[in-house]
Amino acid sequence: MSKFQVDMHCHILPAVDDGSQSMETTLKMIQIAAAEGTTHMIATPHYKKDRHNASPETVKRLVAEVQKLSDDNGLGLTILPGNEIMYFSDMEEAFDAGKFTTMNNSDYLLIEFYPDDDYARIKRGVEMTQSLGLHPVLAHVERFAELRKDPNKVEELRNRGALIQVNAASMVGEQGFGTKQYVKKLLKRELIDFVGTDAHHYESRAPHMEKCAKYLESKVSAEYAEKILYRNAFEYFGIR
Ligand SMILES: [Fe+2]
Repeated sequence: MSKFQVDMHCHILPAVDDGSQSMETTLKMIQIAAAEGTTHMIATPHYKKDRHNASPETVKRLVAEVQKLSDDNGLGLTILPGNEIMYFSDMEEAFDAGKFTTMNNSDYLLIEFYPDDDYARIKRGVEMTQSLGLHPVLAHVERFAELRKDPNKVEELRNRGALIQVNAASMVGEQGFGTKQYVKKLLKRELIDFVGTDAHHYESRAPHMEKCAKYLESKVSAEYAEKILYRNAFEYFGIR
């Protein structure tokens, strides 16, 4: 079992997006995470244009509250701030106005696209993020049709400086066999940098990591498994 396990994509902050809606739900979610060996969680509430998104101050306050919840319940988790940004063309303005939170306040930004966005738009998102002086981390790449069709495109984006995240459930086949096979291809080529649960609740879309950690440990080298499970997150996001 890996010494550390970072869930770097989850929606555990209560009542700020379509994830947890209450501290009671958040508690059940973080209990599952701790029981499955997770040691660090980066809370990444959605940030979408024209929505009532949580401000960095709100994210910071809720992260502190969830940290206290973990401490009070003896879960031993470290809760860190972040956001999952749905790419939009005037992101620069929002960034300049300090409206969203990067991964643990580092220069890495978790960014997502619509599943059927064309490759040109995904590339623009990567370039736009880089133009802000940030490194893009592409959320759940297995969801994007253009990247599904061609794993070489994932490699190309990675060569351009993007980092790649897949969801734990996708890796272990809970999103279908085709998705599992696709993720396996990416793994074989060592194109994956992070895994996250993208948890939204404690029943469906719960923060399960154990099965994925075991899968990684059986499929790839110990060194690469550790990178995906925590070393990359520690190094890039400045954890600890
Ligand atoms: Fe998400």
